[in-house]
Amino acid sequence: MGRAKKLSAGIGAILISCALHTPAPAENAGLDTRVSRFLTGARDSWSDWNVPYEDGKILYGLVLKGGFKRVLEIGTSTGHSTIWLAWAVSKTGGTVTTVEVDKGRFEKARANFENAGVAPYIDARLADAHDLVPTLEGPFDFVFCDADKDWYLDYFKELQRKIQPSGCFTAHNVLWSNNTDIKRFLDYVRQTPGFRTTIVRGSGEGISISCKVGPTDARTW
Ligand SMILES: C[S@@+](CC[C@H](N)C(=O)[O-])C[C@H]1O[C@@H](n2cnc3c(N)ncnc32)[C@H](O)[C@@H]1O
Repeated sequence: MGRAKKLSAGIGAILISCALHTPAPAENAGLDTRVSRFLTGARDSWSDWNVPYEDGKILYGLVLKGGFKRVLEIGTSTGHSTIWLAWAVSKTGGTVTTVEVDKGRFEKARANFENAGVAPYIDARLADAHDLVPTLEGPFDFVFCDADKDWYLDYFKELQRKIQPSGCFTAHNVLWSNNTDIKRFLDYVRQTPGFRTTIVRGSGEGISISCKVGPTDARTW
């Protein structure tokens, strides 16, 4: 079974069971305790359009399962999803680049990264993603899009060539069924050759997962 297909197949299991340097395993044990405590403690206090805990956990599971290392997030806000992604890349040996346009939320996110212990894994940018994303060289193997819905499709079009084979472009809030921008985005990614798209319900907001078919995946496509 190819990697993209395996990832899709593993999503159900995740739902149920669930830089800048590469840390030693001993460091990770301490980090696990620290991040986990932070996320549990902050669970009900996020108030800046942050992803629900359940969706953060799904993102964490996806990055771990795919072994993804080059992660890009569009829409940091105060950093809830970023912390889950950074915790995952602390285990895969990767980093997360994340972009936020609002200075107040960006500064709060940076403080949260320090408090959670994951700052070394995050390259946080204060910028308009419309301008920044086209300048990012990539490649990326995991993208999480959670910013302006009317630009989701533009982000996908810009990044699709920068996503590595077997890598995935994911997007939040795709179960907003009356949103025409989300519909336009989903229609497009579902019809894009070389990508396989699935949607997980999670908290009810919905996360789309569009994975680029890799060389081994192509055999079973
Ligand atoms: C839904 S919130 C992100 C929540 C975050 N992923 C979390 O779970 O904590 C969307 C964020 O995207 C930011 N945003 C919207 N348009 C943007 C743009 N063009 N460039 C960068 N950030 C943008 C907003 O300022 C807002 O903080």
